[in-house]
Amino acid sequence: MSAHSPFPADFLWGVATSAYQIEGSPLADGAGPSIWHEFAHTPGRVHHNETGDVACDHYHRYRDDVALMRELGLNAYRFSVSWSRALPEGRGPINRRGLDFYERLVDALLKQGIQPMLTLYHWDLPAALDRLGGWLNPDSANWFADYAQILFLALDDRVKLWITLNEPWVVVNGGYLHGALAPGQRNPYAAPIAAHNLLRAHAAAVQAYRAEGQHQIGLVVNLEPKYPATETVEDLNATIRADADFNRHYLDPVFLGSYPPELAEIFGATWPTFPDSDLDFIHQPLDFLGINYYSRQVVRHDPNVWPLAAAKVRQDRQTHTGLDWEVYPQGLTDILEWVASRYGSLPLYITENGAAFYDPPQADGEMNDPLRRRYLHDHLRAALAAQQNGVNLHGYFAWSLLDNFEWAHGYSQRFGLIHVDYATQQRTFKASARFYAEVIRSHGATLFAGNAGK
Ligand code: FCB
Repeated sequence: MSAHSPFPADFLWGVATSAYQIEGSPLADGAGPSIWHEFAHTPGRVHHNETGDVACDHYHRYRDDVALMRELGLNAYRFSVSWSRALPEGRGPINRRGLDFYERLVDALLKQGIQPMLTLYHWDLPAALDRLGGWLNPDSANWFADYAQILFLALDDRVKLWITLNEPWVVVNGGYLHGALAPGQRNPYAAPIAAHNLLRAHAAAVQAYRAEGQHQIGLVVNLEPKYPATETVEDLNATIRADADFNRHYLDPVFLGSYPPELAEIFGATWPTFPDSDLDFIHQPLDFLGINYYSRQVVRHDPNVWPLAAAKVRQDRQTHTGLDWEVYPQGLTDILEWVASRYGSLPLYITENGAAFYDPPQADGEMNDPLRRRYLHDHLRAALAAQQNGVNLHGYFAWSLLDNFEWAHGYSQRFGLIHVDYATQQRTFKASARFYAEVIRSHGATLFAGNAGK
């Protein structure tokens, strides 16, 4: 550890993953199917009809993967629990063997001095609950709180950082509004209701945690600063709408107790009236907020884009990742500072940040991924800039430990610091992994060493 490091001594250096994306064996040991299992097995939904049936086989190789984390020098690891492993039907009888997997994983992490950060919901709703309406059913908040409570009772003695939901915006936008993600609905009436029930579910789990838990609980949102393409009133208003939809839809109710007024304008007749008592319930103090940051958006008015009437203007001169996301580190500084100024100084974590790039195979077995390494370097510097401007930042989790199942893109997009050969399950450190290990070893000092990240 360097004496010159600008990072706080207790800073968490982590990586993040999620259950369906890495585990494989989704039905093993009595687990029930999730909506992602069913979606991936529906022809035409995922690139090349790929599924999470095997993925990184982490369900069997978790000990080796924890050893890789140890080699990276991580002191934290963010993962998610598959609800339908713990409760095959989503509610009702507990599947002990499913829970046991996470107990073994947590114990393996702790043995290596790696602090677990556990996400309760990273998109894989039990299929049995989807048949009851999923997040459209008002009972979903209670289903979720009951499931959360089972996990609290099983693991709160060992897990100190809990997350209710991962990225409710994506759950709603992909799952209920545009249909590109499970459960694949495309319904403007459904979207605001699903969003509201997710917020109620989050609050119900927080409430259950206050009764059962001894440590900390928070929410993870994906944020993307929106910048107007021009200074015209149309573009400025489109930018405000995009910001309301993406960045404030979930945070305003949680931290301020109200929805952004622009949502009623965006959703028009499909925007319901929600009871004040629900908003009071949703507005509960959190111990921390997790922010997933990948890119920004430059926005212009476009009446043909439903329902936002706002479109992204591609920044052709900038570097873009495999998913065509612009690389824009300054956006991370901006969004962290925006959160701190709008919602107050609660502890923040960057719970995901990373990039998909094509990693050319190297003849000598070295995997050189200069763009990802550069991405990591520049975003860590951007995070630090915010922290030095007073943002209460406690940790950084790179997405992702391993190449994995990137939802509707299947295995076509590689986000890993560690390469996975899916034919053999062999793991190989990329140069970005070695760079991150060096950042951690030097507690960030390496970020200031001359040509780092080049
Ligand atoms: C985030 C998801 C994560 C992964 C990254 C690339 O939106 O939380 O599972 O797919 O994007």
